[in-house]
Amino acid sequence: MNGSPQTPLRRALLLIGALMVVTALLSVLAIPAFAQEGTSTQPSSLNPAGPNSAAIASLFTVVLVIATAVFVVVEGLILISAFRFRHRVKDTSEPTQVHGNTKAEIAWTILPALIVVTLFVMALQTQQTLDTKPVAAAPEQITVKVIGHQFWWEYQYSDLGITTATDLVIPTDTVVNLELTSADVIHSFWVPQLNGKTDAFPNHVNTTWIQANTPGIYYGQCAELCGASHANMRVVVVAKTPDEFDQWVKQQQAAPVEPTDALAQQGQQTFMTGACIGCHTINGTAANGKVGPNLTHLASRTSLAGGSLTESDGNLRRWLANPPALKPGSMMPNLNLTTTEIDALVAYLQSLK
Ligand code: CUA
Repeated sequence: MNGSPQTPLRRALLLIGALMVVTALLSVLAIPAFAQEGTSTQPSSLNPAGPNSAAIASLFTVVLVIATAVFVVVEGLILISAFRFRHRVKDTSEPTQVHGNTKAEIAWTILPALIVVTLFVMALQTQQTLDTKPVAAAPEQITVKVIGHQFWWEYQYSDLGITTATDLVIPTDTVVNLELTSADVIHSFWVPQLNGKTDAFPNHVNTTWIQANTPGIYYGQCAELCGASHANMRVVVVAKTPDEFDQWVKQQQAAPVEPTDALAQQGQQTFMTGACIGCHTINGTAANGKVGPNLTHLASRTSLAGGSLTESDGNLRRWLANPPALKPGSMMPNLNLTTTEIDALVAYLQSLK
């Protein structure tokens, strides 16, 4: 048998093998970089901030180590065989052709089966960890109803009489039970540093829980394609110390302070006599629409527009001027507000601390 036609094939194999080894090495080297990125505002599953995501990150590490070991062994054998049996000009010997090798076949059947079973058992254990609330370690619990809308999240603290939107405010070291549902299509609630993905279905309640170890803001993303602004449907979790959380609760339970500033009063007038009240609620006022977010304490939030914008005068102004331009498919239409109306509305809304 003439070996020369096989040379290009072996070269290609060598090249592919070398490329795969280099890629694998680069990926492994890149992991610490990603993990560090997670300490900033970048949501990263590799930078867990609570027990749920820690369990997921540990499972990921084990799978990565096993997969890397399998990769190195398989690619190593490919490289060795390509080198060892490459065509040599003066070499007239050919490797002995073999047909069937019972020992090898048993080995390469049993070994992968064992690896798969091990991973399966570990995945089940992780699932069990996610299902078990660490009640002993964190005896405090609260329950929040999470309702997905196109394209924002509503949060109802039924026990506390609070309804808010875009920011999920939670106390640290507390089990936060989430009851997820949807007002329209399927959404998925995902905060990589705090939990895995949990779907929010219409007419169905899915339960999960999260717990944050340290105060901070944890960002997430709706993880189920739900329409034109799926990508703009963010999750913002604001974790406060239990004392700060209690203050927040008192502030949210209070009725909004009546505006004293003339411009804000004018804005309140515009709000209460315009289209706004058809969709929005402001506790203790004539506005009790249920379509859009409850705006009672809008100015106390960190985010606007489904979490896609930070809460500021400028962003609120841009939003009021043309919502669908910032969030395509937004249920809030362009109301063709004048600059004067927008200025007044911004002053009023920003007074709702
Ligand atoms: Cu909601 Cu994607």
